[in-house]
Amino acid sequence: MKYLGLEGKVVLVTGGNRGIGAAIVSLLEELGTQVAYTYRNDPNIESGALAIPADVTDSAAMAAVAETVEEKLGPIYGVVANAGITRDNFFPKITIDDWDAVIETNLKGIYNTLIPIIPKMYERREGSVVCVSSISGERGNIGQTNYAASKAGAIGLTKSLALEGARYGVRANAVAPGFIETDMTRAIPDKVKEKIVAEIPFRRFGKPEEVAWAVVFLLSPVASSYVTGTVLQVNGAHNT
Ligand SMILES: NC(=O)c1ccc[n+]([C@@H]2O[C@H](COP(=O)([O-])OP(=O)(O)OC[C@H]3O[C@@H](n4cnc5c(N)ncnc54)[C@H](O)[C@@H]3O)[C@@H](O)[C@H]2O)c1
Repeated sequence: MKYLGLEGKVVLVTGGNRGIGAAIVSLLEELGTQVAYTYRNDPNIESGALAIPADVTDSAAMAAVAETVEEKLGPIYGVVANAGITRDNFFPKITIDDWDAVIETNLKGIYNTLIPIIPKMYERREGSVVCVSSISGERGNIGQTNYAASKAGAIGLTKSLALEGARYGVRANAVAPGFIETDMTRAIPDKVKEKIVAEIPFRRFGKPEEVAWAVVFLLSPVASSYVTGTVLQVNGAHNT
C-alpha cells in the first residue's frame, strides 16, 4: 500500500470553515493529517480539526495562529493559503476600500500567514506551501481588476518563494481554480453563470473537492516531491 506521506503531518489551512478550504480540511483529515484551520465567523462544527478564529489581514493574529498550532499539534509541515474575498466591479467603480480589502486579504494575507512559519520550515529543512490563486490571476477577468491583481500577485509570490526555498527543501506551489461551486460563485447571477458554463469545455463548474485533491497532491512529500514553483490549473480546460 502506498501513502501520500501526509499522515501525522501538521497542516494549516486559512479560511478552512467553508467552501474550498473546508473541502481541503476534510480531505486532509481523511488522509490522517493533523489539521488546523483559521476562520473568520463560523467554525465548521462538523470538522474535528483545530479551529482558530483569526483574520488573515491581522499580522499579530496570524503570528499567534502559528504559535498556537505548533504548541498544540507540533511543527507545521504544510500551509494552504486559501482565505480570499472578491469585491467585483468595473474598474472605474472600484473604490479604494474595495481595492485595499481585496489586496489586503488575498495578497498581504498570504504574507501574514507565511512570515511566522517559513523561517521555521527553513530551519527544519522541510515544508510545502500551497497558495490558492485563480484563473482570474492567470488571464484576467471582467469586473475583477482588484481580485485578478491579487491572484496574479499570489503566483509571483509563490514562484519567488519556490526559488528561495529550494535550497532549504521547502516547496511552494499554487493552484488556479476555475469557477468552483461555493458561496463565492453562488452570488453570480444565473444568466452570467450560463454564459460562463458555455465557455468551459467541461460544461460545468468545479467542485471544492476537485480543488482539494490538487492541493493535497502539491502538499504531499511523496506525490509531488520534485514539483515546486508551479501553478496547477483546476478548471475543466477553461484556460486552455
Ligand atoms: N469559488 C471559486 O470559483 C474560486 C475560483 C478561484 C479561486 N478561488 C479562491 O479559493 C479560495 C476559497 O474561496 P471559496 O470559493 O471557498 O470562497 P468562500 O467565500 O466560500 O470562502 C472563503 C474563505 O476565506 C475566508 N476569509 C475571507 N476573508 C478572510 C480574512 N480576512 N481572514 C480570514 N479568513 C478569511 C472566509 O472566512 C472563508 O472561509 C479563495 O482564495 C478564492 O479566491 C475560488
